[in-house]
Amino acid sequence: MKLNIENIKSMKNKEKISMLTAYDFSTAGVMDGTVDMILVGDSLGMVVYGDDNTLNVTMQDMIRPTQAVKRAVKKSIIIGDMPANSYNNKTEAVENAKSLIKAGADCVKIENQHEMAEAIVNTGIEVIGHVGLTPQTITDYRMQGKDEESANRIFQEARALEKAGCFAIVLECIPADLAKKITTELKIITIGIGAGLDCDGQVLVSHDVLGLFEKIKPDFAKTYVNLSEQMKTAFIEYNQNVKEGVVKSTGTNFTQMQRLMFKSKIHRATATDANLDYEGSITIDSELMKKANIVPGEQVHVLNIDNGERIETYTIEGEPNSGCICINGAAAHKFKKGEKIIIISYVLVDEDKINKFKPKVVLVDENNKEII
Ligand code: KIV
Repeated sequence: MKLNIENIKSMKNKEKISMLTAYDFSTAGVMDGTVDMILVGDSLGMVVYGDDNTLNVTMQDMIRPTQAVKRAVKKSIIIGDMPANSYNNKTEAVENAKSLIKAGADCVKIENQHEMAEAIVNTGIEVIGHVGLTPQTITDYRMQGKDEESANRIFQEARALEKAGCFAIVLECIPADLAKKITTELKIITIGIGAGLDCDGQVLVSHDVLGLFEKIKPDFAKTYVNLSEQMKTAFIEYNQNVKEGVVKSTGTNFTQMQRLMFKSKIHRATATDANLDYEGSITIDSELMKKANIVPGEQVHVLNIDNGERIETYTIEGEPNSGCICINGAAAHKFKKGEKIIIISYVLVDEDKINKFKPKVVLVDENNKEII
């Protein structure tokens, strides 16, 4: 079920609120329902477009990603981030907030500017404020509010945003004790980023969580998986496959390389008979075949441990639990009753499944009963 803003408000002092950024359909689809809120942040200017800061991000840059995220999200709340210069006056603020809601956002976020927040709230749109290190006005990415004066300023702005009607506020890169004070004294939700653990919730840029943004690595952001490395490995392998000609194009589809892998083995069995008058093949106790994952008619290699001979044939089912392993036809020239043999079969496995592929080996005693 889709969360709504009332659900989020009711989580204060009860349950921590999780928020991550997403800027595209695929990522948002994976993220949906795993976190409470998805922020289509103007941080896309840096992690998607590669700018040094968020100042060049336009409304147009935000609308398409918000629409893409909306198409994928069924459960989490979507926040549309208002980019720099999109709320220079109340008319623009309202108009641009409406555009983000039309694109699919459930609410919008603005940095500082409580008067603009109030104008947007007055139209019925839910707003999240943002104080502390606000990248649209501060591009020196350092902890804010360390001295009393700036801490006071941040606190007052947080209060003003609450008074303006914001239902939540992002506290970015401020001391943990200041974030705690704001969280305790304000009734609205606080979402911290580099602001300690006492906020009502936490937000991170998903590229930091995924190890995808190598240019700046904030020390407060835990890298949960190193996708950069995994992607690089995949790209290098793909490149090698193409160069080696093992990735074949069939129309618009790609078929991947397959390898012939050892699949089944019945080890150190005893030939119970060698029958020259039978047409080629090997008869094997059907229970043993099942245990080794070999089916009737399957091609097998039979190795004679006693004399080094090796033949290729196919299987026929013998009486279950009889222990029967009979070499039939011409191969009977190379195998005698009582000789020790190994029966092996192989299978083609897709390159990407090789690591997980496990062959079946059945060890048997002198009566061809499985040794467990
Ligand atoms: O744009 C963004 O990603 C943000 C978060 C850092 C809170 O504003």
